[in-house]
Amino acid sequence: MNNGRISITQETIGMGTWHMGDEAVKEQAEIEALRAGIDGGLVVIDTAEMYGEGASETLVGKAIAGYDRKNLYLISKVYPWHASKTALPQALDRTLARLGTDYVDLYLLHWPGDVPLAETVAAMETAKSTGKIRNWGVSNFDVADMQALMEVPNGEQCAANQVLYNLGARGIEYDLIPWHKEAKIPLIAYSPIAQGDSRGNHFRNDPLLKELAEAKEVSVFQLLLAWTIRSGQIIAIPQTSDAQHMSENIEAKEIQFSPEELAKIDTQFTPPTKKQPLDVI
Ligand SMILES: NC(=O)c1ccc[n+]([C@@H]2O[C@H](COP(=O)([O-])OP(=O)(O)OC[C@H]3O[C@@H](n4cnc5c(N)ncnc54)[C@H](OP(=O)(O)O)[C@@H]3O)[C@@H](O)[C@H]2O)c1
Repeated sequence: MNNGRISITQETIGMGTWHMGDEAVKEQAEIEALRAGIDGGLVVIDTAEMYGEGASETLVGKAIAGYDRKNLYLISKVYPWHASKTALPQALDRTLARLGTDYVDLYLLHWPGDVPLAETVAAMETAKSTGKIRNWGVSNFDVADMQALMEVPNGEQCAANQVLYNLGARGIEYDLIPWHKEAKIPLIAYSPIAQGDSRGNHFRNDPLLKELAEAKEVSVFQLLLAWTIRSGQIIAIPQTSDAQHMSENIEAKEIQFSPEELAKIDTQFTPPTKKQPLDVI
């Protein structure tokens, strides 16, 4: 806690919500999954005006109803084309109405766009002064984008950058993670378990990951999640609509890796040795 407020730097796992709220038939299970997360001690919930054009924010609003707002840390994101001084406050008000709250803890520019950064930062700072956001940040910003951000007035007020990071997308280890460490600006990892089975990826059947997971008596997905947060300095926001998966994801906080295990993983999922374009979804 920081001045009685939740600090994102003390959290290792939060809850993603992309694609949640899209289908009425799934709503109850999705609400139960998010509540299982909150009841299990998770406080960070990540959403965006983009997700289902507000449907995810509405779902989050339903899920958190009845909980003590000050014990939660809500993140939402503004479309780049709403990140101007006139559109941002309007988009924010819509987000707050859907979430059923009077502030978000962290408001992110979803990805770099055409509105000048200085204007977006000024709009974010104004929103901060009204109390409608506690902090602001960015998403899908690479090193050059962060450097440009630091050049605009109040750019250094940026409280976080949310980027893709998982075992299959390690490019940020080369330069973005070191940059953030130096700047002391937190990173939030999205798609930390590489979107599970939904993209037909190969992790579930990877022999090395299966062997490691079996030895630790965890699932490959738990292993992927634990790997993403292994430094203790990056918070990951896996998405699940399944209360059982939510419990498994919470348990993944406890999974530790030995240096030998990490080295073994590195031989197959090699760390970057040169600059790579920022991975995005
Ligand atoms: N800033 C951005 O541009 C950006 C982009 C992408 C995502 N995000 C944020 O990051 C969040 C997470 O990323 P993501 O949703 O793309 O991918 P993800 O969290 O890597 O994977 C989600 C998938 O994994 C499955 N899953 C989760 N836990 C599991 C478990 N323990 N066992 C088996 N399967 C499991 C889920 O299915 P079940 O429901 O069946 O568990 C779902 O299909 C998003 O929801 C969103 O909030 C941000």
